[in-house]
Amino acid sequence: MTLIQTATAVRRNAHAPYSKFKVGAAVQATSGTVYAGCNVENVAYPEGTCAEAGAIAAMCAAGEYEIAEVAVIADSPAPVPPCGGCRQKIAEFANAAVPVTLATTGGDSSVTSVSALLPGAFDASHMS
Ligand code: THU
Repeated sequence: MTLIQTATAVRRNAHAPYSKFKVGAAVQATSGTVYAGCNVENVAYPEGTCAEAGAIAAMCAAGEYEIAEVAVIADSPAPVPPCGGCRQKIAEFANAAVPVTLATTGGDSSVTSVSALLPGAFDASHMS
């Protein structure tokens, strides 16, 4: 299964009764193992979580902390870009060159990178 196929499959489990916008994400750790996540909304809107956050949490829960590749999919008119918070979350575990595939359920996709998504990222070096 490709990373986008995994993201497509997990998207079906999204809990998005408020936005009706289901998102699926998959991250492949450097070990090769793939972790999936979907958005989980809440009636208290700010408590909702993004698909990328779910996939990253699953990876960490399995004891892995290094991302090799990311894929995100939604039923959007153009390939869906991660929100700002998710860009920072991805950058926590992925180096600048890591590819991020953005896709639509209609079959459109584009590939970008962590550094293109979050130029000038705040990182640990800024605290030294
Ligand atoms: N959403 C994600 O899961 N990932 C993104 O990168 C963009 C937004 C979710 C959050 C919310 O449940 C819904 O999409 C609408 O914003």
